[in-house]
Amino acid sequence: MTQKTHKVLKQAKSRALIDSDTYHDWYKQSVKNPEKFWGKHGKRIDWFKPYTKVKNTSFTGKVSIKWFEDGLTNVSYNCIDRHLKTRGDQTAIIWEGDNPYDDRKITYNELYDQVCRLANVLKSNGVRKGDRVTIYMPMIPEAAYAMLACTRIGAIHSIVFGGFSPDALAGRIVDCESTFVITADEGLRGGKKIPLKHNTDQAVAIAGRSDVVVKKVLVVQRTAGKVDWFDSRDIWYHEAVARAKPDCPPAKMKAEDPLFILYTSGSTGKPKGVLHTTGGYLVYVSMTHQYVFDYHDGDIYWCTADVGWVTGHSYIVYGPLANGATTLMFEGVPNYPSPSRFWDVIDKHQVNIFYTAPTAIRALMGAGDAHVTKTSRKSLRTLGSVGEPINPEAWEWYYNVVGEKKCPVVDTWWQTETGGIMITPLPGATDLKPGSATTPFFGIQPQLVDNDGDVLEGTAEGNLCITDSWPGQMRTVYGDHERFIQTYFSTYKGKYFTGDGCRRDADGYYWITGRVDDVINVSGHRMGTAEVESALVSHDAVSEAAVVGYPHDMKGQGIYCYVTLMEGATGGDELRKDLVRHVRNEIGPIASPDKIQFSPGLPKTRSGKIMRRILRKIAEDDFAALGDTSTLADPTVVTDLIDNRQNKK
Ligand code: WT7
Repeated sequence: MTQKTHKVLKQAKSRALIDSDTYHDWYKQSVKNPEKFWGKHGKRIDWFKPYTKVKNTSFTGKVSIKWFEDGLTNVSYNCIDRHLKTRGDQTAIIWEGDNPYDDRKITYNELYDQVCRLANVLKSNGVRKGDRVTIYMPMIPEAAYAMLACTRIGAIHSIVFGGFSPDALAGRIVDCESTFVITADEGLRGGKKIPLKHNTDQAVAIAGRSDVVVKKVLVVQRTAGKVDWFDSRDIWYHEAVARAKPDCPPAKMKAEDPLFILYTSGSTGKPKGVLHTTGGYLVYVSMTHQYVFDYHDGDIYWCTADVGWVTGHSYIVYGPLANGATTLMFEGVPNYPSPSRFWDVIDKHQVNIFYTAPTAIRALMGAGDAHVTKTSRKSLRTLGSVGEPINPEAWEWYYNVVGEKKCPVVDTWWQTETGGIMITPLPGATDLKPGSATTPFFGIQPQLVDNDGDVLEGTAEGNLCITDSWPGQMRTVYGDHERFIQTYFSTYKGKYFTGDGCRRDADGYYWITGRVDDVINVSGHRMGTAEVESALVSHDAVSEAAVVGYPHDMKGQGIYCYVTLMEGATGGDELRKDLVRHVRNEIGPIASPDKIQFSPGLPKTRSGKIMRRILRKIAEDDFAALGDTSTLADPTVVTDLIDNRQNKK
């Protein structure tokens, strides 16, 4: 996905906030004296009690990350209250429903009212500072209210993407021992209903078997579809909010008090609860939102992510609202009712800044230019991309056809763990190269190392690490600090290891090449191969499974499963369908296997370790380059694997 020669798109001086000289100047300051740099920029948010200590971080030993630690602040105060005097009547959220005739505008005054009422509902139902609240919601304004209401009283939210199954939801409820859930009767996407309340009922039952008793379920009425009801546990959102008091003082939170948990997949084990805290996170996401998108006061800003992912947390809700922006929240999908939907919405709401994922860009590119060119898109100024490497063809199409060569494309590299954008162009300041995330944001110090941990200088390709802390960094894995140290700081001692491979070119530009661990990226969604494997082996017919990613034209990567069956079971299309259904039930539709190969044996070393390198090559239909197979316990399994490969080109 990288290319060795590439064109450079020079960025003309514009009305952009940062020019090239300023970028270099600020960047130098930020790494030379982080205390001074962040000490100054930390003031971009309001503090009830100003901090005197800025940075107190260590990537060695027990690993401890603290920013602005003696300051007191509140996220909902910063996202709402502080704007009321100057922009109370300005639209905070534009909601665009799944149905194009369904939309709504919420002002900052209305946001204040809704969030305070909901915060009071949480309080009166026993939710206290530090309690975990699970949010399992469609893309409706109430999802943002729920997040902000938690932050108002110091409760920690854990959002679970609405596409996850009851099992996956239950696992997340149990892991953080959450006893309060906010959901909706049903979600609506692309005209299809998603039974959120029904899934929640099941998840609560499953969680109960692990002794985590969910006490209350608050239910937003979205479709008014039929749901089961448990009087002692379930509460209608609209009824409770109508009765609640419209004011609720924001809790004074320490900068390092937890803000939210967000579960994400790793190379081994169950998803990890990534923990982000209050002060540093808000400083970092508001600052990146402003400079990366070149956000100017009054701009209409649209990020198409779901609040179930970190992009939705940082760049639909917290970053934009902290900056007093108008943020658009979209309930639907890119191709409903037609592949013009994104561009129609841009014209309808006069969107200036648009942020989406390569998988959507590729799909819409495939639908043909006419769906784009029939719309105006005149309001657009900045285009953003996130979630996976963007191939140069998709980049060019985004830049030329969607942006008509007038809007810089900011390809933003970051992770759930990093909280905010890390490597990215800045509009007007960074010359662009299609397919490169370009250069680091202020305060970010990338480093490439080889597999032995030796530092690579200059033009090189290796494993991407970050050598020092930044305010938006995750602080721990919820409930398992040891796992935090092991996962991120033990591969290369004293450095944060991202899990990504990366190339640096002669201009010092970074080109992310994709994960180097057993994590795959399917349509911008992160999936642990171990999770899919464990879902597969929980099926009665399966004795062993190995899962790898392979290049997929639309999704970036597809899910390729090698399955060994139990004695007596026979593989065929019926069983394939059943296994797909099973994985969807265990994890959710985003984990649906694309290819299933039944194989009597898997390539293992004599010590029993599966050689994934071989499985990856066969899945890519590139078995001429299998490499050394002599260390296999039984080299003949490879012949069978090749003969029965499911991805013949
Ligand atoms: C992984 C993180 C960042 C929020 C959404 C995904 C890949 C992300 C890019 C990009 C190349 C990218 C990386 C990273 N990734 N953005 N612009 N170019 N790769 O967050 O689910 O935590 O996934 O997504 O592999 O490690 P996530």
